Amino acid sequence: MCKKSIKKRDRARELIKKNKEIFKCPICNGFMSIDDSNSLTCNSNHCFDLAKKGYINLLTSSGVSSYSKELFQARHKVIEAGFYDPLIDKLVEIICEHQKYINKEKVNILDAGCGEGSHIYSIYENIKADFNGNFIGVDISKDSINIAASNNTDIIWCVADLARLPFQNKSLDIVLNILSPANYGEFYRILSDDGIVIKVVPNSQYLKELRETVYSDNENATYCNDKVINHFKERLEVIDTKNINYKFDISKELLPYLIKMTPLTWGESTDKLNSILEKDISSITIDLDIIIGKKKN
Ligand SMILES: C[S@@+](CC[C@H](N)C(=O)[O-])C[C@H]1O[C@@H](n2cnc3c(N)ncnc32)[C@H](O)[C@@H]1O
Repeated sequence: MCKKSIKKRDRARELIKKNKEIFKCPICNGFMSIDDSNSLTCNSNHCFDLAKKGYINLLTSSGVSSYSKELFQARHKVIEAGFYDPLIDKLVEIICEHQKYINKEKVNILDAGCGEGSHIYSIYENIKADFNGNFIGVDISKDSINIAASNNTDIIWCVADLARLPFQNKSLDIVLNILSPANYGEFYRILSDDGIVIKVVPNSQYLKELRETVYSDNENATYCNDKVINHFKERLEVIDTKNINYKFDISKELLPYLIKMTPLTWGESTDKLNSILEKDISSITIDLDIIIGKKKN
């Protein structure tokens, strides 16, 4: 066993131990505890192991993610190049502003559907100095959490299903849901009374240069997020919305990773994908809506 892995698991165990009251058994809903072993266990003895890589797997059946390891590796590469940096700056601003209204000593932030973890990691790096609370990243894909946990930091990484979040009622204060599916029933349950959900959804111009090439001949060439936003509004009270729209200069080297990182190109032929590369795209539009909601009274 290599030294680095031991450290990661030890760090994860200590973090979870300090915050064990947040967790709920995803099988029987009981409280969880962890000692010096490498398992989080509930009163009914349902047991979940800490991985050497420093995450906990709380799935009750094998998780099915439609996203491949290659997609997460490609996302990681593109995100590291700064693709979403303006979005992260905006999210940090929103979190810092809202944190003041949360009447709790410790503020718990969850990234629900965190993928390869870069967003919550960047937010953590930006605010950790002035922040008292916990950062948690959850995704159903073990491949994605494996990449996320490779940063040896004070973020709790969990493999879990949004439909059965392993957290106690009202234990989270800020739920981020970035370009991922939502489960509002679960978000509502885990959200504290002062808590907020911050959802990031693509707007009509998002990745338009890719969309126009891939779907040049059909109605998918344009996208409308009304349905997603209306669904959010049905479940939560919207307190603010923001739009963020910018262009990212993309290098020839990064373009293949961009093509791989998005479900937009799923199922497309190699010819079609090559035709995107041949188009000499040099800049990509990022157009995202940020919708912030709280529990309805
Ligand atoms: C497009 S990716 C976005 C990932 C990340 N938020 C980002 O922006 O890079 C959607 C993510 O949602 C996750 N996901 C889908 N269904 C899920 C579920 N039921 N529970 C937890 N995560 C889920 C996928 O595994 C994937 O990582």
